[in-house]
Amino acid sequence: MNTIAIDGPAASGKSTVGSKVANALGYLFFDTGVMYRAVTWTALKHKVNISDEGAVSAIAKDIPIDVQPPSTDDGRSSDVVVEGEDITWACRKPEVDANVSAVASYAGVRAALSEQQRRIGLRGKVVMVGRDIGTVVIPEANLKVYLDASAEERAKRRYDEIIARGEDADYAEILTKVKERDHVDSTRALSPLRPADDAVIIDSDNLDINQVIEKILALNTR
Ligand code: CDP
Repeated sequence: MNTIAIDGPAASGKSTVGSKVANALGYLFFDTGVMYRAVTWTALKHKVNISDEGAVSAIAKDIPIDVQPPSTDDGRSSDVVVEGEDITWACRKPEVDANVSAVASYAGVRAALSEQQRRIGLRGKVVMVGRDIGTVVIPEANLKVYLDASAEERAKRRYDEIIARGEDADYAEILTKVKERDHVDSTRALSPLRPADDAVIIDSDNLDINQVIEKILALNTR
C-alpha cells in the first residue's frame, strides 16, 4: 500500500518533513490538519457558534474541501480551497488556531473528515500527516512515525515561520497557545493525540529538518 503516517503535536515539523519525504519518494503529500482548519475557517466565516456541535458537524459533512498539490511557490505544501476561495494561508490565522482543537473534538466532524482521509490513504503512495493517522485513520500504514519536540522548540519554529511570512508574532503567546492545543488534542475522548504502539518516535529537538527526513527515508526501506 505504501502509506506513511506521520503524527505528532502542533508545530512539530510534520508538514515540512512530510512534504519533503513525499517529494523524495514521488508520493502524494496529504496534511489532514488543513481539513480541520478548513471546517473551522468556514464556521467562523458563516458566524456559526463554535460550541454548536451540530452546526459545525454539518459543515464538515456538507462542504467540500479541496486539498490539491500547490499551485504557487510561496512556501505552501498544498492548496486548500473551500467554496471557490483559496484559504491556504487564511486557515492558519490565530483565530483558526484558537478554535480548531474544539472543532476537532466533535464526533461528527471526525467521522466526516477521517472517512475522506482513509479513502485517500488506502490508495497508497501517500504520506499522510496529522494526529491520529497511525492510530485511527490508517492503522495498517506501512510506516508510522511520531514526530515530537519540546513545546519551547515547537513554539520557536512556529514563531520563525510567522515572522518569515512578514507577519507579527509574540513568542510567549505562541508558546501558551501551543501548550493549550497540546492539552486539548491529547486529552480529548475521541482519537486523542498519542503514538501508535508500533510507531517509531523521533524527537526532533536536536535534529534539523534534513536529518529527520533522512531518518524517515531510512526507516521506509525496512
Ligand atoms: O500545523 P499544526 O501542527 O499547528 O496543526 P495542524 O496539523 O494543522 O492541525 C490543526 C488541529 O487539527 C490540531 O490541533 C488538531 O486539533 C486537529 N487535527 C486532528 O484532530 N486530527 C488530525 N488528523 C489532524 C489535525
